Amino acid sequence: MVTNYIRLGVNIDHVATIRNARGSIHPDPIKAAKIAQFSGADGITAHLREDRRHISDDDIKKLKDQIEIPLNLEMAPTEEMLSIALQAKPERICLVPEKRLEITTEGGLEVKNIKKSKLLLLEKIINKSYKNNINVSLFIDPDVKQIRSAKNLGVKIVELHTGSYCSVDKKNKQQELEKLKTAAEYAYKEGIEVHAGHGINFDTVVNISKIKYISELNIGHFIIGEAIFWGLEKTIIKMREKIDSAI
Ligand code: PXP
Repeated sequence: MVTNYIRLGVNIDHVATIRNARGSIHPDPIKAAKIAQFSGADGITAHLREDRRHISDDDIKKLKDQIEIPLNLEMAPTEEMLSIALQAKPERICLVPEKRLEITTEGGLEVKNIKKSKLLLLEKIINKSYKNNINVSLFIDPDVKQIRSAKNLGVKIVELHTGSYCSVDKKNKQQELEKLKTAAEYAYKEGIEVHAGHGINFDTVVNISKIKYISELNIGHFIIGEAIFWGLEKTIIKMREKIDSAI
């Protein structure tokens, strides 16, 4: 059955970005997560980057202890992150590619053409996480071949990268949307739960939410940015309304 409700995961990384700009304790991403929770968010997403540029190890512990809605821990597929995840026990990890010099996650995780050593590590992370009751999602480009490889790895969830659709010019928008639709339908029919995220705002969320195979969106930068003007609660409620009215 296709979904008639799309869960909203709120990514709070950029509250930590502002906090870290002053090396202080304000604003507190845990407080933001609590506000997101009572404003109707279905989950909290946080990316513990290898360079710790925003979320810290301590933030992850506090999120797990103090937040009741599921925690989706975004992380690079490394041994270090695996051991943190096994200790923190988030409800789910989302494996993302990571480059030190990137401003944000560029492109999805390459699962189709990877070296044997990287494949073995990916398999280890996936298997150990499932054994420890941690769900696994792979952040991948909307590409059927990537989905097929993700399925071969045994993952039950993929998060489709919506960055190209959200940032492309008007002329190529429809083409990018079609890629998302095709990928979402393919994954869903292969029995994989379909999530989506990256670069989503009040405009782009509408067409993305109309893709009936998608069951969760993860949105961060726009929500946190918009919250400066309207407050976090109002912004999340408005995002929820946009999603619901599009379905
Ligand atoms: N999903 C994944 C896998 C991401 O890496 C990010 C960015 O951290 C997001 C969703 C949220 O993207 P944005 O901050 O552009 O809304």
